Amino acid sequence: PAEKGWVANYLHQYQGFWHTTRQLQGVLACQKHFQAHHTDILLVTTPKSGTTWLKAIMFALMNRARFPDPKQHPLLTNNPHVLVPFLELEYIDTQFPDFTSFISPRLFSTHLPFVSLPKSVEDSGCKFVYLCRNPKDTFVSLWHFTNKLRKPKEKVENSLEEAFDKFCRGVSLCGPFWDHVLGYWKQSLEDPERVLFLKYEDLKKKPKALLRRLSEFLGCPFSQEEENYGVTDEILNLCSFDKLSNLEVNKTGKLPSGEENCTFFRRGEVGDSMNYLTADMLEKMDRITEQKLKSCGLSLL
Ligand code: A3P
Repeated sequence: PAEKGWVANYLHQYQGFWHTTRQLQGVLACQKHFQAHHTDILLVTTPKSGTTWLKAIMFALMNRARFPDPKQHPLLTNNPHVLVPFLELEYIDTQFPDFTSFISPRLFSTHLPFVSLPKSVEDSGCKFVYLCRNPKDTFVSLWHFTNKLRKPKEKVENSLEEAFDKFCRGVSLCGPFWDHVLGYWKQSLEDPERVLFLKYEDLKKKPKALLRRLSEFLGCPFSQEEENYGVTDEILNLCSFDKLSNLEVNKTGKLPSGEENCTFFRRGEVGDSMNYLTADMLEKMDRITEQKLKSCGLSLL
């Protein structure tokens, strides 16, 4: 089924989740053709959960031996989405992507729900890092993002109220939001060696502790020498909102797909939804979140 979405496009439901036409084309092709390796790392998010930030962090972490000089780092001149591609979006052209130049372990990101992962991913046993964010802030961030992406002639209906109603009904990009989160949350409980489940809010609160945890999960822990040298601080500074959003490439550059790099940086704070949603809306979202997640032992309020 198709529903007129607020992503300047129709949203199509596939395997229980909503995708744009362009995205769905990539999902189908990637399901059919992507060959995962056992050593691959997949960074999974719902849109606007902090993907850009964690892409930067994981790229810097996993490639720290290749790029030891923070003044010469590729993140200074490339948007994180160029350095860590979205798997399914690589498959939207008729020509399939060539990943042979990727150094092992290959790092990809994806918005694919767990049920829609290519079979080769399941078979490979590769690792996942899932980043989620509280749905109120995720929704507000997504609303701003889709408004920015709309072309002038499409700037018609996208009221906050209508978008909110749809999000709560599960009709949002890669939604239902809660089902997406739960798919990976359950996997992380079943197989914590394979799935690391992180929250944006925790990453804001205790970035160094999570960076260390991430490095251990990925099998590349920091040595004492690196700790003494301050490599963790170096990575976090390089990937901070202020640093990334003020780089020339992220102020004026565009992705090959046409999106302006600046659209991925807005406020980068926890709780900004309080500035946009009414008390009733906040309460409604909290109620849904509690109902959907309570029995699974996950809190995202
Ligand atoms: P806001 O719109 O709330 O500011 P994604 O990368 O998944 O598209 O998510 C985008 C959200 O992450 C935006 O949230 C953006 O500002 C925020 N963000 C981007 N880079 C960040 C960083 N380095 N640190 C913290 N938040 C960041």
